[in-house]
Amino acid sequence: MKPELTTQFTGLEFVNPFVLASAPPTESKRKILKAFEAGWGGVVTKTIGLHPVENVAGPKTIFQRTSEQKPYVSRNKRPDTVSHSSWNWELISDQPLEQWLPDLEEIKTTYPDRMLIGSIMAGAGNEEEMENWRKLARACVDAGCDALELNMSCPHMDRKDMGAHIANDEDIIRSILGALKGAVDVPIWVKLTPSTSTLVDAAGAAYDAGAASISLCNTFPSLPLMDPETFKFEVEVDGLVTSGGLGGLAILHQALQRVSDISRAYPDKAISGIGGIKGFREAFNFIAHGAGNLQVCTAAMEEKGSGGIGVNLINELTTDLADYLERKGYSSIEEFRGIARERIVEHSQVRRKSDAYNGGYAKSA
Ligand SMILES: Cc1cc2nc3c(=O)[nH]c(=O)nc-3n(C[C@H](O)[C@H](O)[C@H](O)COP(=O)(O)O)c2cc1C
Repeated sequence: MKPELTTQFTGLEFVNPFVLASAPPTESKRKILKAFEAGWGGVVTKTIGLHPVENVAGPKTIFQRTSEQKPYVSRNKRPDTVSHSSWNWELISDQPLEQWLPDLEEIKTTYPDRMLIGSIMAGAGNEEEMENWRKLARACVDAGCDALELNMSCPHMDRKDMGAHIANDEDIIRSILGALKGAVDVPIWVKLTPSTSTLVDAAGAAYDAGAASISLCNTFPSLPLMDPETFKFEVEVDGLVTSGGLGGLAILHQALQRVSDISRAYPDKAISGIGGIKGFREAFNFIAHGAGNLQVCTAAMEEKGSGGIGVNLINELTTDLADYLERKGYSSIEEFRGIARERIVEHSQVRRKSDAYNGGYAKSA
């Protein structure tokens, strides 16, 4: 019997658990249709908002590589390099909501069996912004979205009431989810920023306020590198740069740890794993730590000749997952989801070479 790639997640059926994350691969109807044709189980649209968007007058994303010969990280083309990360300072979608709505409708009608998740973002702190969340949510759901993902994690907003600036503030998280209660009847995923020390509490607040899942991680707030000879940043406009987001392989381990933290604190809750997935091994690790759904961005964008949507990648991911399930005799990812949870312990619970070590020991005086 062929193993089952179909996955239930937040009450939705995915033909496979691999989803394109909210980013350039999902920025237009054309790309999303191509992604579904290629085999992705779902997409989270590029984040849709209500305020005008004007991106920087220069490249919005760079892909950084490193090599064994000269192992520095740079976007500069060198032979024999491998991918290290993406860095971007791209804002949310510059396509207005009104233009998105017929597109969403057409996408859902063309691919009814694929999951269409609308990523939305508004501000916080007053009723007008709460109404903005409701307006975006209702419009996307009416146009056919199966779920919503609330972007509370964009790392490059100037507005203090948006994106990562919300800084996982539990009151704000509760207020936004509260505002959406009763407004729509679809699962709501919440994408939090990985860059606070209050992440687990924030996830708890979101689940408590009705979130069906947490999506983690968005890119990590970060700066691009400066060249020691030219004093130019790897990406800049008129010599200036600002906080952007690091994605790709470089964030894999940090993303896993954060998914693990949330998954161990709330083992019965859903979590969608994102950050550095390039193939089955990375996806496996997120599932082992409890993720029931996998999102991919940088690796899809990097795939040459795919129009930035990872045509070979989705083929490889599904083939490798199917092979793995078959080889291990598993009927679905549920049979190994979360297997790493119990093996992540306090430092003091790990065996020592002798009894002498006392540093950080939970029971030490
Ligand atoms: C160019 C670019 C644009 C992005 N835009 C958004 C966005 O609009 N909304 C959002 O929630 N995440 C956005 N992201 C973050 C991705 O969805 C994803 O969380 C992140 O890149 C980590 O995944 P990766 O390591 O597979 O790239 C963007 C990422 C990149 C590289």
